[in-house]
Amino acid sequence: MLKLEHIDKRYTEHHALQDINVTFNPHETTVIVGPSGSGKSTLLRSLNLLERPDSGKYTIDDRTIDLSQPLTTETLLWVRRKTGMVFQQPRMFDHLTIMGNMIEAPVHVLKQSKAQATKHAHELLAAVDLDNTADRYPYQLSGGQTQRVAIARALAMAPDYLLLDEPTSALDPELEAQVLRVLNDLAHENQSMIIVTHNMDFARHAADRMLFLEDGKINFDGTPDEFFNNPTERINRFLNAFKFNQNETE
Ligand SMILES: Nc1ncnc2c1ncn2[C@@H]1O[C@H](COP(=O)(O)OP(=O)(O)O)[C@@H](O)[C@H]1O
Ligand SMILES: [Mg+2]
Repeated sequence: MLKLEHIDKRYTEHHALQDINVTFNPHETTVIVGPSGSGKSTLLRSLNLLERPDSGKYTIDDRTIDLSQPLTTETLLWVRRKTGMVFQQPRMFDHLTIMGNMIEAPVHVLKQSKAQATKHAHELLAAVDLDNTADRYPYQLSGGQTQRVAIARALAMAPDYLLLDEPTSALDPELEAQVLRVLNDLAHENQSMIIVTHNMDFARHAADRMLFLEDGKINFDGTPDEFFNNPTERINRFLNAFKFNQNETE
């Protein structure tokens, strides 16, 4: 279980997160949506403490961290190991092969043997349909392939929670579909995931749970069925904004 209680985050100009209370259950896929600037990235980055909230409590498993107190490096490393982040534009080590990129952290951080890490990496690459790229270099991959490697690489660290911030928004529709298929498979394999995305079709299919953020607050927390099939007036307005012809009714 990953739990946030009374989380607040201010930037100089902006109250980005306002009294956020939310619990993410294991083995669920939560999709976070909301208008631009609503605090989605800040919330997601707070989940692995890449962003430091000003106050509130953060709980993973049975360990609770008071965010208004200084954090130790040990705590930070512990949280980072429990959570894996996949960014919109993942960075690779350009001088390493795909396999080199895959085993870097498992070998150096988790202290796995090279043989063990390589075996696991082959399995993970096969799962994202990219085992044939193991000996290539990052510049030889397409954007969609790179993003799938980034997902496999994050999974190599066996995070309890996989966090993804708009993982497909830099991709062409065809490449986006490839990445979303991988994520949809992971969702159905019960990997715990928290995903910020604008792809409503994906959300409808893969989410166990939807969060709608607005102005740094959670405006909706419920099932995709409620979200899409019985939306509040506000959510309906949000969903309609995705439609080309806004006069069209359901
Ligand atoms: N590093 C920062 N410094 C100042 N303001 C920021 C910073 N990061 C985000 N913000 C502001 O906080 C609000 C929420 O941002 P963000 O979490 O990135 O929203 P979203 O991902 O939903 O688009 C926005 O108004 C944004 O301008
Ligand atoms: Mg964002």
